[in-house]
Amino acid sequence: MSNVEHKGYLEVMSDDLMQRAREAMAASRAGLDPDFPVFHVAPPVGRLNDPNGLLIKDGVYHVFYQFSPFFPTRGVFWGHASSEDLIHWTTHDPAIAPSSAYDRDGAYSGNAFFNGDEVWMFYSGNVRPGDVTRASHQCLVTTPDLEHFAKYPGNPIIDEAPPGFTPHYRDPQVWRDTDGSYRMAVGAKRIGQIGAMVFLRSHDLLHWEYEGDLEFPDAGGLFDHFGYMWECPNFFAMTDEVTGERRDVLIWSPQGIPAREEHFRNIFAVGYVVGRLEGTRFYGATDITELDMGFEYYAPQVFKREPDDDGPLTYLAWVGNSATDDHPTLPEYGWIHCLSTPRVLTLHDGKLRQRPVIGRGDLTLNPLAVSGKTLVDGEQPVAELEGVRSFVLRVRLGLARAGGCDVVLGSPSSHVVIGFRGNTLTVDRSAARYPDVKRQQVRSLTLPEGDEVDLLLVHDRSVTELYLADGEIVFSMRTFLEHDAFAVTLRATGTVEVLQAEATRVD
Ligand code: FRU
Repeated sequence: MSNVEHKGYLEVMSDDLMQRAREAMAASRAGLDPDFPVFHVAPPVGRLNDPNGLLIKDGVYHVFYQFSPFFPTRGVFWGHASSEDLIHWTTHDPAIAPSSAYDRDGAYSGNAFFNGDEVWMFYSGNVRPGDVTRASHQCLVTTPDLEHFAKYPGNPIIDEAPPGFTPHYRDPQVWRDTDGSYRMAVGAKRIGQIGAMVFLRSHDLLHWEYEGDLEFPDAGGLFDHFGYMWECPNFFAMTDEVTGERRDVLIWSPQGIPAREEHFRNIFAVGYVVGRLEGTRFYGATDITELDMGFEYYAPQVFKREPDDDGPLTYLAWVGNSATDDHPTLPEYGWIHCLSTPRVLTLHDGKLRQRPVIGRGDLTLNPLAVSGKTLVDGEQPVAELEGVRSFVLRVRLGLARAGGCDVVLGSPSSHVVIGFRGNTLTVDRSAARYPDVKRQQVRSLTLPEGDEVDLLLVHDRSVTELYLADGEIVFSMRTFLEHDAFAVTLRATGTVEVLQAEATRVD
């Protein structure tokens, strides 16, 4: 199809589709749902999945995301929300509609790139004429102001995958190399059901040459047959705060890898490696580490900053997963899934650490009455949080004389139990309002040895994030609980010292 035909198709269809999306957003009941998060990004209507095109411009965080306003009817747009304080989010019109011949079955995931005064967004145009047949094109949208978005008239800029790869070829990430040329990584599936990542290089961001695919020379072959499809590549560099070394990090989402003991237990996994990227080879990576151990978590992406902005590395992820589109939010209120809180990443002796960012600067947490108390075989509600359904809580527990301690969210009739016994964390949501009966509801994780637990808990109506072990262990999940009798309760077995307890409501 020629560009002219592309264009004609685009003009007619995009207005129409965009208008329909706006109407769906205007008619939405999502915000009336008591489960709709207050400070997490959730779709104004329909379905959300991966975060896309994340960027920080003039101090404003812009989040784009996979957005299906007519869900369960297909049609994936790029939704758009922005925030200055990472608490209040403004919803904007979608940035990309799947209105062109080359993206008609979905404007799939991608990244943003600061190109002079403009932002260029690279994404995958999905075309799926049949259940089995598909094509995936890499496409470009440009914007001068993050309000007006134009599809590049020469789209698609990359028509198809290189030889040896299937049309499962998506989620481009573009960055500038040290020599001034540009690189693109694309998630891929090799012929023969093998996950892989493809590199391309360009001198003008428009014409791309295949460079080769990612190799891990130090991994002993581990990644040669590692799942059947690799999605959402994210390369970035950071300085290790312990060694002072500059390291490359790759976060990606390999599909179809086996679970290992307590790790990689979701339908699709997310992990990272740390090392040195030279050309198409990633040196020093011997194994993959799971980034978040929660029930719902996928497709993380790091925010792009303007070239002169050296602020911290911040990312967010989808608190969701494939094949889990049956949440109770859908039938009555017509929305499903949300994103995580933005999280600052640091590298500590080769391990990524995560810290949630909520509000400008650090949140001030206020001491709670239970702080400093000793609990002996009994329950203690956190009085200040009674009925508060969006909050941040930090508790430091001394467990030397304890059989265990549970932090219980919810009420007797519906709750989630976050339990500490020895050095094991057990999260049990089998008694939640939505127990997700099809999947595993109790998950245990090994924490570092020691008698103390330091838990940072972020809860926002129906989404909960746990940060432990200085942010090296993170657990994200959806928590559907009764709305009326919500409480946070500490439950002690034996003697539990509440060394410190502080919280703030965020609503
Ligand atoms: C990951 C993913 C991406 C794709 C997008 C489609 O969840 O499958 O690979 O671009 O979602 O919505």
